[in-house]
Amino acid sequence: MSIKNLVGYQVLDSRGRPTVAVTLTMSDGSIHTARVPSGASTGAHEAKELRDSDTSKSEKFYGGKSVYQAVENINSVIAPRLNGHRPIPLATDGILVELDHTPDHHILGANALLAVSLAVAKAAAHTAGLSLARYFQPEGKLLIPMPMVNILSGGAHANRTMDIQDVLVLPNGATSFAEALSWIVAIRELAASKGAKSGAITHLIADEGGLGIAFPTIDNALEFVTNCITEVGLKPEQDVSIAIDVASTQFFDGEKYKLAALGKEFSREEFVTFISKMVSDHPILSIEDPFAEDDWQSWSEFMAIAPKKLQVLGDDLFTTNLGRLQRGIDESSANAILIKANQNGLVTSTQKVLTTAQANNFKTVVSARSGETEDSWLADLATGWRASQIKVGSTHGADRTAKWNRLLELEATENCEFAKPF
Ligand code: PGA
Ligand code: ZN
Repeated sequence: MSIKNLVGYQVLDSRGRPTVAVTLTMSDGSIHTARVPSGASTGAHEAKELRDSDTSKSEKFYGGKSVYQAVENINSVIAPRLNGHRPIPLATDGILVELDHTPDHHILGANALLAVSLAVAKAAAHTAGLSLARYFQPEGKLLIPMPMVNILSGGAHANRTMDIQDVLVLPNGATSFAEALSWIVAIRELAASKGAKSGAITHLIADEGGLGIAFPTIDNALEFVTNCITEVGLKPEQDVSIAIDVASTQFFDGEKYKLAALGKEFSREEFVTFISKMVSDHPILSIEDPFAEDDWQSWSEFMAIAPKKLQVLGDDLFTTNLGRLQRGIDESSANAILIKANQNGLVTSTQKVLTTAQANNFKTVVSARSGETEDSWLADLATGWRASQIKVGSTHGADRTAKWNRLLELEATENCEFAKPF
């Protein structure tokens, strides 16, 4: 079976912004569509998505965020080159790299490349008669990743109501994905009703479906979520732990960490102390981007004093980039990596980053972006790649539930086990 036709076009993401979609038709008539996500708190070292503001083709009604040039690149450069080829991800990703060999894929656009790369992976799975998850792991029990789920949102995703971007929960004591999700929904519902009782607006939700409740301090926010865990009848730490995404690149000015909502600023050294105290005062099992993307020194200093069981997770630090991951391994900057396919640009090179991390005993957290679509490929990749965790946002919004529901489907229909990463 071979690729008969490849069509790129513009669709909308969950923020109502344009993004790239591809529909691939195979010689057997089967159709495979892929849509790509887009971040808001993007790292400087990510692969570059092509938006028309970068060219002369800016489209005024989309405020310069249209992706017509990326779509054009698919239809006039990529499609003619791939039509007639068999859908073999390594080979076709190799052709995409030939067409745009820049490390950040800024010529054709990482959004154009990823849409094609994903559609080809879906077509390859179909050709093999397998689901996308099974395509990457044809034999043995699949590993359903532990969900890391957003309860409170701040930072760039919620109008900066809170300086840190996410307070999430990790149901580390659950024995199945379905059980884990039921716990999270209970915690999330309680958080919403408690927030509403204290006067917060809880029916309006942040970019990833989290609650944008304002608290006087970060400690107050963490105590609030810990109380929600207890009040639904679960034990903090034993059953459900807290994870946070500090997304600190957003408030580091090169010298100081400036927490506007808290009204405080910290030197690098002071911020390492601030973060250390935060993780020891609360049942925090995972901390993402506690320091800025190029503040390698603070990462290593913190790792040297962090509790051994703490997951120290690099998102903007690594941007799913092999070279940056290698530096993080060499310098012991972290012990886990967030994996976002669109930070990298291609399915197979994203997988390479993940397997390199796994081979070096780094935990892997496959992640959605704040701008998502209803596509559910992320759930299949996370499962097929044996990631230890998956981060998709909250339990609200079809862009989020598409992934959770796909994981429920995999757990119900495939020979699976549930990840126990901690
Ligand atoms: P982003 O946020 O998609 O806006 O980058 C997600 C994250 O920081 O983990
Ligand atoms: Zn992050």
